[in-house]
Amino acid sequence: MRRLRATEPLRSLVRETHLAPSQFILPLFVCPGEGVRREISAMPGNFQLSIDELVKDCAEAASLGIGGVILFGLPESKDELASGAYAEDGIVQRAVRAIKREVPRLLVITDVCNCEYTSHGHCGKVVNGDVDNDATLEWLAASAVSHARAGADIVAPSDMMDGRVAAIRKALDGAGFANTPILSYAAKFASVFYGPFREAAESAPQFGDRRSYQMDPANGREAMREIELDIEEGADIVMIKPALPYLDLIRMARDRFDVPIAAYQVSGEFSMIVAAARNGWLDRERAMLESLTAIRRAGASIILSYFARDAARLL
Ligand code: PBG
Repeated sequence: MRRLRATEPLRSLVRETHLAPSQFILPLFVCPGEGVRREISAMPGNFQLSIDELVKDCAEAASLGIGGVILFGLPESKDELASGAYAEDGIVQRAVRAIKREVPRLLVITDVCNCEYTSHGHCGKVVNGDVDNDATLEWLAASAVSHARAGADIVAPSDMMDGRVAAIRKALDGAGFANTPILSYAAKFASVFYGPFREAAESAPQFGDRRSYQMDPANGREAMREIELDIEEGADIVMIKPALPYLDLIRMARDRFDVPIAAYQVSGEFSMIVAAARNGWLDRERAMLESLTAIRRAGASIILSYFARDAARLL
């Protein structure tokens, strides 16, 4: 076996998996104000950005050939009804309009969820101490339509309510957005690895946790059911999240379903590598490329990653 490993040209000739910037999606956090570029302490190199600064990062992403960006919004204020999530002049809606005006060639995906917009930090409407599934669907559908109206190329629901893909599809079609695709966070686990994100998006739940709607990390077959249902409801792309601890499920999904598969290398996966590298315990670049390559090899054709920029620069 060693004959084909002897030199880099030989290794490169027989390499089975390749990374390309066009397969990466860069997550970005948009906040109110002007000239704001506030570093997220648990995610070095990532920032809460006001719209004017966000547009600069989007222009850079486009020039690096990155496949697109996904936007998360920090609203001016939060309330029980998540009104900022579906306001026509909400933070994400305004950000999308600005990006489409300044960097029209960049693909813009919007995260559709309520946790950044509710005062309690849960992903839906709380009724009697629990998240009410069907009441939340109306908010999600309204958010998705408002994002599409602002110019979003793809909407990406991440809330894990049942039936949300069908509800969003119906609302988009009804509002004249039959051509707007849905990237569904189909198998999203109740993971500890979202910790740094909740600082970034200021979206930690104020009581309880998300285990009554996000998946139990122990369940792989159930993940396949989630994906199957989302495809039936009209999802165009399905996602597994987190990525590295769930490579078995990326592979299982790749083998079973013929839609594009995305994987989200989440905040905690990013921060672990960065923290170890800062301590001198790991080589940052190699850990980044090895983890991204493993996610590709498992079968994801699209990777959401906070390393998108660094990786694109290297490739
Ligand atoms: C919103 C959402 C979360 C992430 C993406 N969309 C947080 C959560 O569910 O608590 C996590 C992304 C990351 O950790 O990088 N619901």
